[in-house]
Amino acid sequence: MVGLGPRKPPSRKGSMADVPKDLMQEIKRLEELFTVDKAKLKQITDHFINELAKGLSVEGGSIPMNPTWCMSFPTGDEQGTFLALDMGGTNLRVCEIILTDQKSEFDIIQSKYRMPEELKTGDADELWEYIADCLQQFIESHHADTKLEKLHLGFTFSYPATQDYIDHGVLQRWTKGFDIDGVEGHNVVPMFEAAIAKRGVPIKLTALINDTTGTLIASAYTDTKMKIGCIFGTGCNAAYMENCGSIPKLAHMNLPPDTPMAINCEWGAFDNEHKVLPRTPYDIIVDKDSPRPGQQAFEKMIAGLYLGEIFRLVLVDLHDNKDVHIFEGQNIDKLRKAYTLDSSFLSLVEEDPFENLSETGDLFQNKLGITATHPELELIRRLAELIGTRAARLSACGVAAIAKKKNYKTCHVGADGSVFNKYPHFKQRGAVALREILDWPAKKNPKEEDPIEILAAEDGSGVGAALIAALTLKRVKEGNMAGILHPENFRG
Ligand code: BGC
Repeated sequence: MVGLGPRKPPSRKGSMADVPKDLMQEIKRLEELFTVDKAKLKQITDHFINELAKGLSVEGGSIPMNPTWCMSFPTGDEQGTFLALDMGGTNLRVCEIILTDQKSEFDIIQSKYRMPEELKTGDADELWEYIADCLQQFIESHHADTKLEKLHLGFTFSYPATQDYIDHGVLQRWTKGFDIDGVEGHNVVPMFEAAIAKRGVPIKLTALINDTTGTLIASAYTDTKMKIGCIFGTGCNAAYMENCGSIPKLAHMNLPPDTPMAINCEWGAFDNEHKVLPRTPYDIIVDKDSPRPGQQAFEKMIAGLYLGEIFRLVLVDLHDNKDVHIFEGQNIDKLRKAYTLDSSFLSLVEEDPFENLSETGDLFQNKLGITATHPELELIRRLAELIGTRAARLSACGVAAIAKKKNYKTCHVGADGSVFNKYPHFKQRGAVALREILDWPAKKNPKEEDPIEILAAEDGSGVGAALIAALTLKRVKEGNMAGILHPENFRG
């Protein structure tokens, strides 16, 4: 994707000429804290490769490496009508997907529902009732006149879940700021099914999937070079196809060693034991004040939910504690509110095209009631660049680790999520880091593809969920019952 799309405006040169010495020193300190150089990227990647293997072992490690029971890539010839439900971090989406008889083609209708903020820390029943209401509404508005027999549903549940079967998933822990009692440690499928049954909606859950697995499969439907699916959004994670023979923790299943199995890595948990990631004091506060301290160490340095918070913590520190006292004499109460800035705020700062950073100045004025001086604006811009660049470079370590583990010299990686799609320069910064980690020679011409390209994915939680449901129905029909808990739901 790098280099495609509308031509970018010429980039801002910026000048630090009027930045006083003490502020310059702070900028330098921040540069040291947030810069991850090539040697560190390589060290992180090497550790990452070991941790991927550890997650697949019987003893396990901090990366869960969850087998998903999605056991093949699509061919492009899958067909049928499916429902898909996506419970991501921000919205709830219901889709009906028709995989048509044209190779790799699909039609989709969808409705989006905002996830009320209070649901995320509320009560489990309210969550399942809300989800079932949205599904019922969708069916009633799209199938008011038809008597439905049974609809097969792919449920994208984008949290770490242990799956002994594809129609089963025990939530390991909430991530992305969710904190709903009574779900962790339980199989979410019966809870979901009970809420649906109450409403008499003719839906059968065929596959519980992760957004990354959906992204992998949806992307591979239209591009056979796709080998890894990634999400860089509110949370971050990846999935890829492993061979069962390389998954010691599945040895008891006696599956043929060359059988494919999609693995939901849950790489957000990489380095929870803090061995290699260059955490700053600000990352430590983000973790400590989160609902699940000690979890998702990698995700907390990369994902959209946290980028604005890291930025905010630095600015408050520079106001309160450092000699520079930025925003001196001003009321920074609005800036003191945790999670008041999301990653789209950072995007806007990085997108400000003006030499005097007037758009950034307006943002601070309008959103936070803070008047920033020009030198302070220069610091703000540099800080946003540092945080955004670090996120992109660390992300590349995960991609490189999977590629190295699988010995993929060339492939495509399908990526989705708000940070990947909207954060300025994220793709290009990630591509630069991949090149450094994998020691690719310089390109002969700028149009040449990189050996491993991270590209915008197809819709994983819609089309991907439908495809995984279709692939599962197909294999059950063929008699492959591995990882199927309720075969009766797959008939008819
Ligand atoms: C979740 C993953 C998910 C990722 C992206 C993480 O917080 O644990 O399951 O794939 O966010 O949505």
